[in-house]
Amino acid sequence: MKPLGKLRLGINIDHVATVRNARGGETPDPVRAAKLAEAAGADGITAHLREDRRHIADADIDALMAALNVPLNFEMAATEEMREIALRHKPHAVCIVPEKREERTTEGGLEVAREENRLAHYITPLREAGCRVSIFIAADKRQIEAAHRIGAEVIELHTGAYCDAHAEGRLEDRDRELEALREMARFAHDLDLEVHAGHGLTYDTVTPVAALPEVMELNIGHFLIGEAIFRGLEPAIQEMRALMDAARA
Ligand code: PXP
Repeated sequence: MKPLGKLRLGINIDHVATVRNARGGETPDPVRAAKLAEAAGADGITAHLREDRRHIADADIDALMAALNVPLNFEMAATEEMREIALRHKPHAVCIVPEKREERTTEGGLEVAREENRLAHYITPLREAGCRVSIFIAADKRQIEAAHRIGAEVIELHTGAYCDAHAEGRLEDRDRELEALREMARFAHDLDLEVHAGHGLTYDTVTPVAALPEVMELNIGHFLIGEAIFRGLEPAIQEMRALMDAARA
């Protein structure tokens, strides 16, 4: 199968805010990073307003909405507070993610199947407000079917297990995880869901995921913000873009 179209790159700027918040104050400014990412060819910006506000703050979302020329993908847990914020801003996309206070990052996908009724009601106003609703899930048929049934337009496949297996040299696990991503991207596409992917991607792991023909968008943050320390944000993003384009060609 030929790729369905140009693969979009969404840059997650959460960890610029992590560095800022380590000291308090205003620098480094995640909005400045978002504008640089735009200039480097990002197709969108992703920001996760966590319930504990450990990185992105409410004022960052206000500022991003005012400053961006590319779409904002607003990541949030399925809480009333977050939905109110999303409905106030009406970002291009809302990505619903699981959130546990004690976790260091978004460790797994959302349990959609177990919460199907609640989530179906939860996302309706967001869809009615014109936000594209995306659900962050593991490469698991049950979850994809449930995401489809609740009316989500997009799923984002969690690539963390694949990236962790690669980083730890567990090559059989890595290949198995990649195969699951491949099969589930196809399965979701056949249900008419738009397929995105992300979490933990690096220059070493991006190519096989970018080559999956059904995947339309990758969201990448932590690695690129780290890489930017050594070579600047724009070149770091441009290299990722080039790897994605080469994988797609
Ligand atoms: N996609 C989603 C839904 C996420 O929650 C995250 C991490 O916040 C990412 C993509 C980006 O992951 P990373 O920062 O590891 O590249």
